[in-house]
Amino acid sequence: MIVDLRSDTVTKPTPAMKDAMFSAEVGDDVFGEDPTIKSLEKKCADILGMEAAVFCPSGTMTNQIGIKILTQPYDEVICYKGAHIYKYEGGGLAGNSNIGTKLLTGDRGRISVEEIEPVIGNINDVHQARTSVVALENTVVREAGSYYTLDQIKKISEFSRSKGMAMHLDGARLFNALAETKENPVEFGKYFDTISICLSKGLGTPIGSVLVCKKELELKARRIRKVFGGGMRQAGFLAAAGIYALDNHITRLKEDHHRAKELGNILRKLNWVKSVMPVDTNIVIFEVRDGLTPEKCLVKFAENQIKALPFSASEIRLVTHLDFNDAMLDKTITAFTKFSF
Ligand SMILES: Cc1ncc(COP(=O)(O)O)c(C=O)c1O
Repeated sequence: MIVDLRSDTVTKPTPAMKDAMFSAEVGDDVFGEDPTIKSLEKKCADILGMEAAVFCPSGTMTNQIGIKILTQPYDEVICYKGAHIYKYEGGGLAGNSNIGTKLLTGDRGRISVEEIEPVIGNINDVHQARTSVVALENTVVREAGSYYTLDQIKKISEFSRSKGMAMHLDGARLFNALAETKENPVEFGKYFDTISICLSKGLGTPIGSVLVCKKELELKARRIRKVFGGGMRQAGFLAAAGIYALDNHITRLKEDHHRAKELGNILRKLNWVKSVMPVDTNIVIFEVRDGLTPEKCLVKFAENQIKALPFSASEIRLVTHLDFNDAMLDKTITAFTKFSF
């Protein structure tokens, strides 16, 4: 039994998801004729209390489109210094939108009005860039899946908009956050101009993300998606997986969180582990003991058919997901407990 904890993107479609995919009604979506994509887009817009949505191949694309349609070249975006849009999208903000970034530390990646206010560019000073967007990530992947409450988001959104800045949310794992806060996703639409949600992470589809946005941004988003090469044809087969996931895989996310917490609790007791970040959702990030490297640990993991991701010079990341069950959890705990380095 191979245990793959590298990411929640490694899941394979379930038999029921495959049935939904193969029976999907499809059409050419670039001509706006794929009924299943239309229905996924409407569903996502409704869930998040917004008017429009655009189905895309990846979360990187939905983030990059979202930021591009909210900015002009030479602007800048404010975000957490470890944000996916900045750190893990290949420099796309600079390349795709020709914008700069103002990076904040946040509280485990959760930025606040207090941090945002002092770094906003002065629009009346020609030396300074126009700060046009505040981008949040929820959950924060680099900080072991920490999450915002709606109240924190409301404060940031109201403040940012009062300063003329738009709001983007990288909600790749928004439903993991909501599984903990129990807040209603429909509230989110009020506080953002663009929201990216991923179907291929905790929700378990093979591909797909959706950019949910205001109606007036939809045509712009579709144009940029085409420019980026993301205009797909009979992709309703993929959208059907998304509809299935939204209907069937949200309520089970708590199970992933529970297993991640178990892993965190065990790791805290092991002498080859130096520290473990708080485990808030489905991501566990831990530091190995001084003198030990993630690579050395991963060799031993691999001998036991356990896959994990080196996350920095001293950290390893584990992510729980739909294809990680209790038997795998037991196997992982048994292996971790018997390791000595
Ligand atoms: C927080 C976050 N945003 C965006 C993405 C990008 O998603 P994709 O891999 O579909 O491009 C990821 C990918 O892991 C992510 O963790």
